[in-house]
Amino acid sequence: MTSRSLPVLDIAPPGVAPSGPRAPLDPDDARLAEFRPEAPALPRFFVWTLGCQMNRSDSEEMAGRLLSAGCAEATSMEAADLVVINTCAIREAAEAKVIGRQGHLRRLKDASPGLRVVLTGCSVRESNRATLARRYPAVDLFLRPDEEPELVDRLGLASAQGAVGAVPARAVCAATAATTLVKGDLVSDATHLVRARSDAIAGGAVSRGSAISAWLPIIYGCDKTCTYCIVPFSRGPERSRPFDEVVAEARALAEAGYREVTLLGQNVNSYGHDLPAEGRFAHVHTERTVGRRQDREARPDLAELIRAIDGIRADGGAAPAIPRLRFVTSHPWDLSDRLIEAMRDCPSVCEALHLPVQSGSDAMLRRMGRQYTVAHYAERLARIREAVPGIALSTDVIVGFCGETEAEHEATLDLLRAIRFDQVFAAAYSERPGTPATHLADDVPAGVKHRRLVELLAVQEAIGLERNRAWLGRRAEVLLDAVVPPRAHDHEDADEEAAGTPSARDAFRNLPDGVAHLVGRSRENKLVHVAGAPALVGELVSVAIEHAGPYALRGRLA
Ligand code: SAH
Ligand code: SF4
Ligand code: F3S
Repeated sequence: MTSRSLPVLDIAPPGVAPSGPRAPLDPDDARLAEFRPEAPALPRFFVWTLGCQMNRSDSEEMAGRLLSAGCAEATSMEAADLVVINTCAIREAAEAKVIGRQGHLRRLKDASPGLRVVLTGCSVRESNRATLARRYPAVDLFLRPDEEPELVDRLGLASAQGAVGAVPARAVCAATAATTLVKGDLVSDATHLVRARSDAIAGGAVSRGSAISAWLPIIYGCDKTCTYCIVPFSRGPERSRPFDEVVAEARALAEAGYREVTLLGQNVNSYGHDLPAEGRFAHVHTERTVGRRQDREARPDLAELIRAIDGIRADGGAAPAIPRLRFVTSHPWDLSDRLIEAMRDCPSVCEALHLPVQSGSDAMLRRMGRQYTVAHYAERLARIREAVPGIALSTDVIVGFCGETEAEHEATLDLLRAIRFDQVFAAAYSERPGTPATHLADDVPAGVKHRRLVELLAVQEAIGLERNRAWLGRRAEVLLDAVVPPRAHDHEDADEEAAGTPSARDAFRNLPDGVAHLVGRSRENKLVHVAGAPALVGELVSVAIEHAGPYALRGRLA
């Protein structure tokens, strides 16, 4: 430690005798360090993210804002001074996970009283603000999803002046971001998120979790009224980002070397309807149904957007600068012929589509408020399969929604057998407070929901295995994105299970020096395991597929 007794006037600039003329001292001179005011203690933060890709993208933005304010990222909740929990409210189980951690957080706060906990994401809504403090007793500050851009200010961290201890404990802040009414409910208004995102991008305040694949939000909120769903109440009405801003962000990602970009929105298929009409989009006509049919002229749509991003070229390059483009999530009712044509025409658009069907029964789809029929859904898929041969299809299903009969459940199983999806994400219906479905009886007993879910997963597992076996002996283009650490082989973890056949467990043991167990995704979004040099992470490689399980493939570098 240096002594504080050193008088400041005795510091001579380097190379100048104390008696000679004094050159001005460099303010960064290390010897001045001890005379500067103490830097405010900025918190080390940890962001715990639950839920969908939109939440992950939002967390990248929050982390980026905290880093820009001068905070450092902690490696765990236990090592942090500030815990930000980005919640998901889609099912009760997702909220229960966070409620279940309140005791642990309470104990961490007892041990270090400076620790502050912020809870944000879809669990924070105007309609439930009054109950939040009781449900999440360890939390100091609640922010709705549209209030996330205010995180740094609300914590008193703007311009790095205040320490995290400046947050008043138990501050349930009044909403300052805009709200709007949806069917009489006060919900958040995402309008300013569009601005906040462009500010974050311009200021470099997005801390992306990967240097290979990037999330790119294009539309916030959701205008649908699926009766079971909390999202429109958490996220508010749709707001599209300006076309040129999205393309500019994609161009910057290409320049930064990203190999894959996933466009995000609750319903990316309705991108652009709320943007101003422009002459350059005169050829675009879109229809949408929000209560009644609306025609939209001369506004950009998702098809225009992916054509523009696909068209980005590196200097002198002939191929798209971003080799892989994906988008989630699509709503079957809004999936236009224009989009299907763009998927067919754009080489970067991956041969994979996630199109949630929810149920195989028309009566059930009506109760769910999904707008389409099973026949319409099947027609869209037939069209896509024709336009993009070999495309992998995945979907979401809810089992045991209000009034689901055995016949309706069987209809869903029949649909899975008829369509033969590559992957199905299924969950039992979970009633969400404030959603329209609370007016219907949640009358399928828990045991029956569970049995139907198990049945459905068994039907799909067999189909998924067959679809994956079709890859045996073929080559897949794989974007390698991670090294699986050797210790994972000692656990029965999901990837290990996913690697399929029993021999898979041993396939990556005892690899020679310089060779590791790598994983990545094919263009069809299949998880692929392969042995290779760790330096291949981030590369597109060709893998000869030798083993197939229901959830993953395994092969060797070709
Ligand atoms: N915007 C996307 C999905 C959002 S939620 C879309 O429309 O597809 C992701 C999935 O969660 C939904 O597709 C649905 O299958 C499921 N889900 C939504 N609400 C649910 C609820 N209350 N109970 C069970 N599953 C639900
Ligand atoms: Fe929810 Fe339906 Fe909107 Fe998807 S489209 S987020 S399921 S309301
Ligand atoms: Fe969950 Fe909200 Fe996404 S409810 S699924 S985090 S939009």
